[in-house]
Order: sequence, then C-alpha cells, then structure tokens
Amino acid sequence: MTNTEFDDIWNRAQHIPSPFMPEEHAQLLYNLALENPGTVVEIGSWHGRSSVVLGSAVKSLRKGQLYCFDHWNLIEDAECIMDQDIWRSWNNQIAQWQLQEVVTPGRAYSQKAAEEWPANKTIDLLFIDGWHEYWETGPLIIPPEDIQEYGIKGWLKDGKMIPAHEHQPSFDRGAKVDFDIWTPKVRTGGIVVLHDLNPDFPGVMKVWQEDVESSKEWTIIQSENNIGVARKS
Ligand SMILES: C[S@@+](CC[C@H](N)C(=O)[O-])C[C@H]1O[C@@H](n2cnc3c(N)ncnc32)[C@H](O)[C@@H]1O
Repeated sequence: MTNTEFDDIWNRAQHIPSPFMPEEHAQLLYNLALENPGTVVEIGSWHGRSSVVLGSAVKSLRKGQLYCFDHWNLIEDAECIMDQDIWRSWNNQIAQWQLQEVVTPGRAYSQKAAEEWPANKTIDLLFIDGWHEYWETGPLIIPPEDIQEYGIKGWLKDGKMIPAHEHQPSFDRGAKVDFDIWTPKVRTGGIVVLHDLNPDFPGVMKVWQEDVESSKEWTIIQSENNIGVARKS
C-alpha cells in the first residue's frame, strides 16, 4: 500500500457522515484489511465510512469479501423512520465506490446476523462498532433527545406509522453481545478490532478489560487512541 492510495480514499471517505472515524482509524482499518486478507466482518456501518475504507482494501487485494452487518433501523418487522435514510445512503456509497462485488450487506441486528452466519465459515478480520453499551436486553426505548436529534417520525410497521414510544422492539444488544457471538468465528491468528475504546463508552472498555486484557486467548496489538486491536492465539 502506498500512502497515495490511502490518501485518495480518505479524501473521499472523510465526507461520509460518521459519528467518529478519524483518518488515523481509517488508515489503521485499511492496513489491517490489507494485512489480513480473506473474510472481513464489520458490525455497525451507519452511512458507510468504515465500510468503504475496508471495502477498498479488500477490492485492491482482488480476493476476499467484506460483510457489513447493521440493522439500518429495520428491526424485525418494523422500520424506524427518521430524517435521513441511512440504509439508502449506505447503498449509494457502496455503489458510488463500485464496491458491490466485494461488499455484502446484512440488514439485521447483530445477534440475528450471527445466528445466520454459516457454521464453518471463519473470519480473518472482525471490526466491532455497533451498540456501545455493555449488554442490554428487553425493549429498545428511543430517548426523547434522539427523537429530536435524528428527526424520528416513528416506526413503520405493516404500512402504518406507530409513534416512537408505542413500539419498543426487544433484542439483545451491546459490545459484550457482539464480542461473545462473533469472536468465536474468528480464526486462530485472526484479528478483532473494538472501536471507541475510551471512558465515554464504559461498556466497550469493560469488554476489552474482561475478554481481551484478562484472557490468554488474545494478544494485544494496540489499545490506545480509542481503538483496540488484538490477535487470536
Ligand atoms: C457507531 S455507528 C457505526 C459507525 C461506522 N462504523 C462508521 O464508520 O461511521 C453504529 C452503528 O451500529 C448499528 N447498530 C447498533 N446496534 C446494532 C445491533 N445490535 N445490530 C446491528 N447494528 C447495530 C447502528 O445502526 C449504527 O449504524
């Protein structure tokens, strides 16, 4: 990889809306995807900034596949409608970057996606950037400030709009859930990346401390700068 290749990617990718995916993280993901070719899995894609970075690396290798899992606001049989259509936006990005052949989306919540993953298919690089709490179950209650911030109109179910507070889907979610269900699929020698490893997200920190730092199964490659990278022994 030359710096020019990544620079060109970043020049475009930085304009894709993202809660937090600075250049150095994008560069790290790009390098990790080049160094760990094969099956790459991303949990949490939003508008696709990290997806296009990882997908571009996979495409340049001419082998492997990136699988992006996100519910993109569709949970079971109801879709949360808000100002921005992030599912459409993600698809537009993948098309504009001509990555359709190397990037496969799975529109489902992470636990359901994991249940449908083929039993004998191992992962070379796993990037976890989904729900940032430790572990939650039971009803998903959208806070009023999110309704305001994202312009949430409600849930569309069977062609009818239901007010946000009247529909509360139940499903297990969190960094711990993602780690527990996805890392067993990582091959020996494969890589896990935990994004947003900082005190603002104690759930992510707790998973890292309990399941990576305190475990002989993982060798830490990086744990500073808001991102954790470890190799499976
Ligand atoms: C922090 S954003 C991902 C940012 C993205 N990686 C980027 O580069 O901009 C988190 C994403 O995770 C998704 N998400 C949250 N919980 C999830 C779950 N349990 N299963 C699937 N996707 C989930 C959200 O829909 C959201 O798009």
